[in-house]
Amino acid sequence: MFRTLYAKLSLSLIALLIIMGIFYTLLSFSTARYYFQETSQNLNLDLAQNLVADQKLVQDGQINKTALSNTFMKYMVINPSIEIYLLDLTGNILSYSADPGQVKRNSVSLKPIKAFLNGKKLPLLGDDPRSHERQKIFSVTPVPSATEAEAYLYVVLQGTQYDTVEQLIKESLLWKQTGLAFIGSLSIGLIIGLLLFKKLTKRLNHLSEKIGQFHDSDFSFLVTGDKTSKSNDEIDQLNQTFNQMAQRIVSQLNELKQQHNLRSELVANVSHDLRTPVAILHGYLETLDLKVNQLSAIEQRDYIKQALLSSERLNRLISELFDLASLEARDSLNNMESFNLSELAHDVIQKFQLKAKERQINLTMKITEAALFVRGDIALIERLFENLLGNALKFTPNQGHIDFCLKTNEKKIIVSIKDEGPGIPKDEIEKIFERFYQGKKNNNRAKPGGLGLAIARRIADLHGGNINVESRPGQGAVFTFSLPKVTH
Ligand SMILES: Nc1ncnc2c1ncn2[C@@H]1O[C@H](COP(=O)(O)OP(=O)(O)OP(=O)(O)O)[C@@H](O)[C@H]1O
Ligand SMILES: [Mg+2]
Repeated sequence: MFRTLYAKLSLSLIALLIIMGIFYTLLSFSTARYYFQETSQNLNLDLAQNLVADQKLVQDGQINKTALSNTFMKYMVINPSIEIYLLDLTGNILSYSADPGQVKRNSVSLKPIKAFLNGKKLPLLGDDPRSHERQKIFSVTPVPSATEAEAYLYVVLQGTQYDTVEQLIKESLLWKQTGLAFIGSLSIGLIIGLLLFKKLTKRLNHLSEKIGQFHDSDFSFLVTGDKTSKSNDEIDQLNQTFNQMAQRIVSQLNELKQQHNLRSELVANVSHDLRTPVAILHGYLETLDLKVNQLSAIEQRDYIKQALLSSERLNRLISELFDLASLEARDSLNNMESFNLSELAHDVIQKFQLKAKERQINLTMKITEAALFVRGDIALIERLFENLLGNALKFTPNQGHIDFCLKTNEKKIIVSIKDEGPGIPKDEIEKIFERFYQGKKNNNRAKPGGLGLAIARRIADLHGGNINVESRPGQGAVFTFSLPKVTH
C-alpha cells in the first residue's frame, strides 16, 4: 500500500509538516522567552536599587544588617517571585532570603553582574543559586554605594519566566490561540496537499493504466479518447509522447503484418505461376519420353517447341521476379548518369516498330525537343519504356494506333503512351501496378506475368518520378511517366 506514489508523497508531506511544526514551535518558544526576559528585566532594571532605597538597607554609608534580614523575611513570605542575595565582591553568597535548603551554590559568576552594571544590552542571564546550571534574569546594585562598594545586592527574578512550552501555553491565552491556529493551518495545509497529490497522481495513474492496457493488448491497441487537458504540463507531455509512440508502434506492427501477408501472398502467387509452366513443360517432355516411337517427326517438333515456349516463359518470369526483388531491395540507384531521353526513346521505339508492323499497328512518336537530358539509370529507364510499350502493343488490336509522346514543362519531363486497347476498368486502375496483378479479362493464368507494371513503378520511384494511368473502358489507355528535369 505504501508503494504507491500517492502514499509516498502523502507520507513525505506529513513528515514535512511535523518537522515544520516542531521547528516553528521551538522557534516561537525561544523568541517568546527572549522577549519576556527582555521586557521583565527592563521593567525590573532598578529593582535592586529601589529595594535598597525603600527598605533603607544602607544607613550612614553602612549596610544595615537588621533591615536586610527583615527584608529577607518579608520577601520570603510575601513575594516569593523574587529572591534577594547579598554577595561579596568576588561573587560569594553572604546571606539570602530563600529557604536555606533550596540554595545549591556558594557563589555566582560575576561576569553577568559586571555586564549589567556596565549597561550592556538586555536580557542578561545570571546564575540562579537555587540550581547548579540554571540561569535567570536579575537586577543588581552595589552596596552601600557604587563608589565604595563592599557587596552586591543580587535580586533573581524567579516567577517572570516560563521554563517549558506547556507552561507558556497554559499560562497565556494568546499562546493557546496562536497554537491552535497554527495546528489548524497545518491541518488545512495537509488536507489541501493530500487533495492536490490525489489530483496529480490520478492523472499519472490514468496514464499508467493506459500503458498497462496497451501492454496487455500485445501492443496492438491503444485506448484513445483522452480528455485533452489544457495545462500542457509534464504529465500531459508524457501522455502525448506516449500516444505518439504507441500509435507509431501500432502502425509499424500493422505494416509488418501487412508485409508478412504480402510476402505469403507473393510466395503463393509465385508458386502458382511457376507451377503452371513447369507442369506444361513436364507434360510435353513426359509425352515425348513415353511415346517417342508413336509420334511423327512433326508432332515431335511441335512438342519440343511447346516445351521450349514454357521454359522461356519460366525463364522470363524468374528473371523478372529476380529483377523486381533486387529493385525493391535497394533504396537508391548507383548507376546514375546524365543521358538524352529523346535518343533513348527513339531507340526503344525502333525496336518495337518491327513487331508493330507485323500487326499493322501504327506506332508514332512525337518528340518536342531533340535533346532532353535526364539523370538516371539508362538501362532501367529503357526497361520502363519497354514494359509500357510492350503492354500497349499487347492490348492494341491489329491496325490500331499507339502514340508515344515526349514533352516537357518547367519542372518535369513527361512521357505518355496512348493505345487503343480495351482500357482498364476503374476498379482495377490502382491494382494493375501490384505484383502479379493481371486484369480480370486478361486473366490467363496459363501465361504467368503481372510483373511488368510493378517493375515500371519501382523504377519510376527510384528515379523520383511518377507513373499514372488514365483510361476509360473501351477507349484505350494513356500511361504517363514523369521525371524531374535536370538543370545543368
Ligand atoms: N495498355 C494497357 N491496356 C489495358 N490494360 C492494361 C494495359 N497495361 C496493363 N494493363 C492491365 O494491367 C495488368 C498488369 O500489367 P503488367 O504489365 O503488370 O502485367 P502483364 O502485362 O499482364 O504481364 P507481364 O508484363 O508480366 O508480362 C495487365 O494484366 C492488364 O490487365
Ligand atoms: Mg506487361
